Amino acid sequence: MTASESGGSALLEGRTVLITGAGSGIGRATAHLAAEAGALVIAIDLKGQDETAAAITEAGGRAEARALDVSDAAAWQILVDDVIESHGSIHGLASIAGIVSDVDSLLSQTEEGWDRILAVDLKGVWLGARAVVPALLENGGGKIVNIASTAGLIGMQNVLAYSAAKGGVIALSRQVAVEYAARNIQINVIAPGVTQTPMLGDITEELLTTVTAATPAGRLGRPEDIGNLVVYLLSPKSDFITGQVIPVDGGWTAQ
Ligand SMILES: NC(=O)c1ccc[n+]([C@@H]2O[C@H](COP(=O)([O-])OP(=O)(O)OC[C@H]3O[C@@H](n4cnc5c(N)ncnc54)[C@H](O)[C@@H]3O)[C@@H](O)[C@H]2O)c1
Repeated sequence: MTASESGGSALLEGRTVLITGAGSGIGRATAHLAAEAGALVIAIDLKGQDETAAAITEAGGRAEARALDVSDAAAWQILVDDVIESHGSIHGLASIAGIVSDVDSLLSQTEEGWDRILAVDLKGVWLGARAVVPALLENGGGKIVNIASTAGLIGMQNVLAYSAAKGGVIALSRQVAVEYAARNIQINVIAPGVTQTPMLGDITEELLTTVTAATPAGRLGRPEDIGNLVVYLLSPKSDFITGQVIPVDGGWTAQ
């Protein structure tokens, strides 16, 4: 059921939004919430995107799946050209796709692993923004929401390259925000805390219990906790917010 059918506020009615990482976890939840808010969702991922788009369509929303490696510059341009040809315009991009490595400390991190994480988690965010900004300008403005991490804000263990990439996402986003604020493009960053998605993979119950106990809200994040804010930041309600980094972490970084 769409937001307009349910009588809810259709924050994204008439908008076409690209969502990367839409095949799983936070991206998938965001794709559903954006469609419920009235958007036409372009669900982008390497896997799982077809299932997400099908489930949205089944529920009465509008979505199309596109396979894309976010670190592939040429593929981004083809995708953006294709969406514009099919739908006329693009109003927003949520860059949610990301990867993390298992053990990634100063001495154990391989160059190959570093390069791959930076290519997906940082370069992919730049390539996405670079591909869509001309299309947003064509519409007189638009929205970009990038997903970083609390690991990009404070020091943690075993996420060296990931933290560097996420810190880079924050710096890049502020740069683009300042550059395009006067042309009505808003770009913001969400920094999730530990959120229950397949990315947590093999993390032990013991560690999750420790993180939960250290979180003032007393629970881990849910994908929807992040997705609801993405929808808001993609909507006209957030037109005077740009270049900001918002932790969604149950108060963890507030301590
Ligand atoms: N889960 C957490 O605890 C947590 C915390 C902080 C930040 N984040 C960030 O949230 C975002 C979403 O993570 P998630 O937890 O939903 O993980 P997830 O593993 O469930 O989903 C990530 C998605 O990104 C896709 N992806 C990976 N590489 C890609 C590429 N090169 N091109 C296109 N798609 C690609 C994967 O296929 C997957 O569907 C990531 O950027 C992650 O770093 C997650």
